[in-house]
Amino acid sequence: MKILLIGKFGQLGWELHRTLLPLGEVTALDYPEINLAEPEQLRSLVRNLSPQVIVNAAAYTAVDQAEREPELAYAINSSAPAVLAEEANALDAVMIHYSTDYVFDGEKRSPYDENDPTNPINVYGDSKLAGEQSVLEMAAAGLVFRTSWVYSLRRGSFVTKVLEWSRQHEVLRVVSDQVSKPTWCRSLAEATVQVLAKSSRDGHPADWIRTHRGLYHLADNGAASRYEWAQAILAFDPEAGQQRTRQIEPAQTSEFPAPASRPLYSVLNCTKFEQTFGLHMPDWRTSLELAMQTP
Ligand SMILES: NC(=O)c1ccc[n+]([C@@H]2O[C@H](COP(=O)([O-])OP(=O)(O)OC[C@H]3O[C@@H](n4cnc5c(N)ncnc54)[C@H](OP(=O)(O)O)[C@@H]3O)[C@@H](O)[C@H]2O)c1
Repeated sequence: MKILLIGKFGQLGWELHRTLLPLGEVTALDYPEINLAEPEQLRSLVRNLSPQVIVNAAAYTAVDQAEREPELAYAINSSAPAVLAEEANALDAVMIHYSTDYVFDGEKRSPYDENDPTNPINVYGDSKLAGEQSVLEMAAAGLVFRTSWVYSLRRGSFVTKVLEWSRQHEVLRVVSDQVSKPTWCRSLAEATVQVLAKSSRDGHPADWIRTHRGLYHLADNGAASRYEWAQAILAFDPEAGQQRTRQIEPAQTSEFPAPASRPLYSVLNCTKFEQTFGLHMPDWRTSLELAMQTP
């Protein structure tokens, strides 16, 4: 299988790179070798490489900064996926794309499924929604995986921030009114690769993916508030002896004003993914414990 991976230095991209390798010939790129904000460069690069599978793990993910530079956020998160979907079709290739729980406004109080109405409340969420819609409309062999609260230990994430704060402060205040599914980037990479492996078992991957094309919620199982997540991070910290933090206190989102609003509740129901592909996502605590033991 000839695979083009875009975003190899990102949290998810790095895990995808190592996990995709057994499937075939992987060309892994990131900015500036490939620039999602330059549609013509993007087009010619994809045409030259002529992959059978395009995995787009790159995105504009700076949620607050997106409020200040919406044009760039829309170029990377909305226009580029449309270009990739067009090129994937021209090559009869599979396209895998990732979206976000931030397409929802967070007003619901039970897990969101794929049919729930979207209503993004920030530029990032709106730009990602436009991108996923393009892929869903255009990519004949396209899968969009909507995920949430992605973390890695390799790049700045909520997990690395909490660890950093725990070395500095005796008391941490963490919001308890934002609830979602913390998701280890490795869980996402492995689920993606399992699906691709199934797609190539009986011949042409695009034929198989076409029969399953569409939108899937995909995240680690269970749910937590950021407060509960922070407690678990400190509990699983392999170097807990270095923590100065003696207490974590619950706080409200309204106490920490930020340029972008966040949905307070964005738990994704991932049943469709698990049933369609016969896969099971790990519990978020199991993933977190493993992630924190991984050098
Ligand atoms: N992080 C989350 O909590 C979260 C939650 C829900 C959904 N998602 C989605 O999951 C996917 C993976 O997210 P992630 O957390 O792994 O993202 P990430 O760590 O921020 O990685 C994104 C990658 O895209 C690259 N990139 C940015 N602008 C680019 C451009 N113009 N051209 C080419 N590459 C560019 C980044 O490079 P630089 O580092 O140089 O900018 C980075 O390597 C994304 O679709 C994201 O929207 C993430």
